[in-house]
Amino acid sequence: MKNSNCKITGNKTKNIISFGKMPIANGFLNKKDFKNEFFFNLSVSFSEEISLLQLNDHPKPKMMFNSKYPFYTSSSNFMKLHFNEYASWAKKKFLKKINNKIIEIGSNDGTFLKNFQNSNTEHLGFEPSKNVSDLAIKRGVNSTNKFFTRENLIKAEKFIGKTDIIFGANVVCHIPDLIEFIKTADKLLNDDGKIIFEEPYLGSMYKKTSYDQIYDEHIFIFSITAISKIFDLFDFQIIDAIPQVTHGGSMRYVISRKKTKHFNKKIKSMLETEKRKKISSLQGALNFRKNCELSKEKLLDKLFKIKKKGYKICGYAATSKSTTILNYCNIGPDIIDCIFDTTPDKIGKFSPGKHIPILDYKNFTKTFYNYSFLFAWNHKKEIEKKEKKYLKKGGRWITHL
Ligand code: TYD
Repeated sequence: MKNSNCKITGNKTKNIISFGKMPIANGFLNKKDFKNEFFFNLSVSFSEEISLLQLNDHPKPKMMFNSKYPFYTSSSNFMKLHFNEYASWAKKKFLKKINNKIIEIGSNDGTFLKNFQNSNTEHLGFEPSKNVSDLAIKRGVNSTNKFFTRENLIKAEKFIGKTDIIFGANVVCHIPDLIEFIKTADKLLNDDGKIIFEEPYLGSMYKKTSYDQIYDEHIFIFSITAISKIFDLFDFQIIDAIPQVTHGGSMRYVISRKKTKHFNKKIKSMLETEKRKKISSLQGALNFRKNCELSKEKLLDKLFKIKKKGYKICGYAATSKSTTILNYCNIGPDIIDCIFDTTPDKIGKFSPGKHIPILDYKNFTKTFYNYSFLFAWNHKKEIEKKEKKYLKKGGRWITHL
């Protein structure tokens, strides 16, 4: 291992943009807690050495992932289907007919691992947020309420050195200590073992200027180049990268030990594309900064024009991503009256930082809102289908994109 820092940040790190004072993205709160709300400065830098876009500071993981984590993977039918397909793809491509051992990190409510129940695969999920881990157990999934670190492997002894695949989805970018993550994976995997994970993709974020992917939980926004450079510091290599439509554009990475000879020959050209599009260099990050500033100006202009005409605006889906938009652009209840959402743990509370009330989505059409800010723009198809009547009544969907 070339790098022995406790955190991989890379050298030649340049500050890119500050989004200002930011609360916990998923910290939906009650009125009584407004005065004690926690804030930190959300800013990102870019390491030219490892091509990594990363937060400069973030709250301690336990402040974000605890017994009150309000994100449930199963809240989207599209995501349930996606995880079903992800599992089928992996079974076909990498697993044997019998005696497999797999692990999922950040297994949430068990949506992915449920696809391995009743198969000849022994599974284990690591989930640090107790409420969602308990729900997974209730659904018959083997979940341990722990962070994925070497000292938490007590319940995973039979997986040590014997695991075929360590899976993740939207989780590796949440792990501040990537060295501990890779060393834990190294301890668990067998000789031919793979790490397969999918994360929001830097190239997609740049293309859409979807800066709302940047919030406390997303410590890194990865590219193929960054993943390739990071794993190369260890006994691992990237052997495939497969684009995904989820979360507004993600990338699924397949990692194996260095001795593996089989890899997708397209990787080389994918790395060259990232170079050409400046995804792997500082210039891409600097362009992104300009685009964020422009996007903020345009959005505020659009919202002020709507308000000036006397129209009503609500939000739809109280996503973690919305916390960055609302706080960076300083949008509060004077502009967006309320946000409708399906999550019982969020309903009745207020949005982090800007304190916009969160209401039950069932009441969405009870009052007419001329405009509805779709914060879950990544679930556009699913939501527009569900809320077909809204357009018919003359309502309009808007986003910052
Ligand atoms: P997602 O984009 O996965 O959130 P995040 O930015 O936190 O990763 O969207 C999940 C949120 O959107 C969750 O609060 C539930 C809400 N939601 C709805 O209210 N209705 C829907 O139809 C869907 C798919 C999500």
